[in-house]
Amino acid sequence: MDSPEAFGLSRRGVLAAGAASAALPAVATAAPGKVEAPKLMKVAFEVNGKRRALELDTRTTLLDALREHLQLTGSKKGCDHGQCGACTVLVDGVRINTCLSLAVMHEGDKITTIEGLGTPGDLHPMQAAFVKHDGYQCGYCTPGQICSAVAVLAEIKAGIPSHVTDDLTTRPSLSNDELRERMSGNICRCGAYANIVDAINDVAGVRA
Ligand code: FES
Ligand code: FES
Repeated sequence: MDSPEAFGLSRRGVLAAGAASAALPAVATAAPGKVEAPKLMKVAFEVNGKRRALELDTRTTLLDALREHLQLTGSKKGCDHGQCGACTVLVDGVRINTCLSLAVMHEGDKITTIEGLGTPGDLHPMQAAFVKHDGYQCGYCTPGQICSAVAVLAEIKAGIPSHVTDDLTTRPSLSNDELRERMSGNICRCGAYANIVDAINDVAGVRA
């Protein structure tokens, strides 16, 4: 390789030029204008039957609001990217991934987390069915699975089709294909899928 001297530059000159360029202001390419501090916003919603009022950074997800501000840690952060379903809760009866939803978008909403579905002494039928059918191993995905499963049965009852519904003119069936498709947004790395379907079927009354 050619040395700096081959281009008429002394080693001392190269070092001095490098030091001078390193000392240039780093903001030379930054966009003009000032950077504003994060904005706070008030929001109030109902969580598990109780009104909760918070003042949050507008970038706070509903998942972080539940876990970090209301200490409802049943909803889990698996991926924080809408890919695993561990953060699923019910909002006005509809399941959503709370990691993809800003808390301030839920003014006045009714939110149900796993803590609000049932209690240890009075389990929701879906919670009891998951226990009965061993629908989990480590349990990390389970709150999201249960919230999703509750919503799935409501969706089928309401006649909402899925990607595997054959006949869009009739109510979707409670087939295992339907359940697996509708639960496909909830990942279980322990692989408890077969038992989860058994638990949902049990609650649906298809099979005890
Ligand atoms: S944490 Fe929300 S989908 Fe994974
Ligand atoms: S029970 Fe472990 S990830 Fe589902």
